[in-house]
Amino acid sequence: EKGGFDHFMLKEIHEQPKAYRDTMLGRVDESGRRVVFQDLKLTEEQIKNIRNVQIVACGTAYHAGLVGRSVIEQLVRIPAENDVASEYRYRDPIVTPETLVIVVSQSGETADTLAALREAKSKGAHVLAITNVVGSSIAREADDVVGTLAGPEIAVASTKAYSSQLIAFYLFGLYLAQVRGTITEDAAAEIIAAMDALPEQVESMLANTEAIKGYAEQISKHQHLFFIGRGQDYAVAQEGSLKLKEISYIHSEAYAAGELKHGTLALIEEGIPVIALATQEDVLEKTVSNIKEVKARGADVMVITYEEHVVNLLKSVDQAFAIPKTLPVLTAALSVVPLQLLAYYASLALGHDVDKPRNLAKSVTVE
Ligand code: M6R
Repeated sequence: EKGGFDHFMLKEIHEQPKAYRDTMLGRVDESGRRVVFQDLKLTEEQIKNIRNVQIVACGTAYHAGLVGRSVIEQLVRIPAENDVASEYRYRDPIVTPETLVIVVSQSGETADTLAALREAKSKGAHVLAITNVVGSSIAREADDVVGTLAGPEIAVASTKAYSSQLIAFYLFGLYLAQVRGTITEDAAAEIIAAMDALPEQVESMLANTEAIKGYAEQISKHQHLFFIGRGQDYAVAQEGSLKLKEISYIHSEAYAAGELKHGTLALIEEGIPVIALATQEDVLEKTVSNIKEVKARGADVMVITYEEHVVNLLKSVDQAFAIPKTLPVLTAALSVVPLQLLAYYASLALGHDVDKPRNLAKSVTVE
């Protein structure tokens, strides 16, 4: 049942290339320049009238939504905001008929996300669900469903569901941009071609996990560590931190790199591991200066970046892990993979039950 893997989590990490391909299947026309969504109730007219987007979810699905917001803002230039469902449902959210609410849920059964969906609908929003379970409560109650085709996810720690949610956001973001005319066909074709390359790029990372495994063993001796990044790197840092806490029980915090000096820098002391994501090239220099800030306080820094930056970054960090090159808007679909592996191998090194971490359930169907 685990397909030759020791744990469901590792199996599901390895299923990501297939999940990416399956989630894209039938959603790009044969020209490779346009995204198609067959059964959306959301009309082109409604899409043109959208004034704001609210993305609501819990846990890892919330983290996928953070990337989704960046994708929508970049491609469509519509204001988008994120909220965790347990907050959204009680904060009397400001919703108009021109608000598109996107709820994200692997299981489609998370109680808070379902309640948030109902709240948004009752206030007149159009609600679209990104979910992995077509017959779920959330899928049934949403106005529209964009299914992720990740297949069943068994491990409590979500991996392939998260990354397939990213693919769903890329596709849906492209679709919105197409309808609203905020992207040229050439630019869309470039993104679609880069998406087509993602599965093989993930495979190449999965074929070579020794470095991450070694680093995981190193961090498993620590009780606290930090993840830092800017933009989408910050969003992925938050997911990496949750994954690590959830299954290795090592405490970590994800910080927007530029925010460190507003308090958290006080916690950086000799030898503390800091994992820096540095893939967003428009802010690379800024991230490097934040890396130098923690280095100067004795942190042990591992950077995740593109191959072409490794030599230069190694002047300021202790270790570097290179990921394959893609477009800035798509990086999360690659940079999350080493972080999933890191959490997995750290949990393994500490002898924890990787697939069934303490105190947690796969699906949180009570409030
Ligand atoms: O089924 P959902 O996507 O609605 O679940 C949301 C969270 O409970 C879930 O992502 C949780 O954070 C995972 N265990 C994280 O790995």
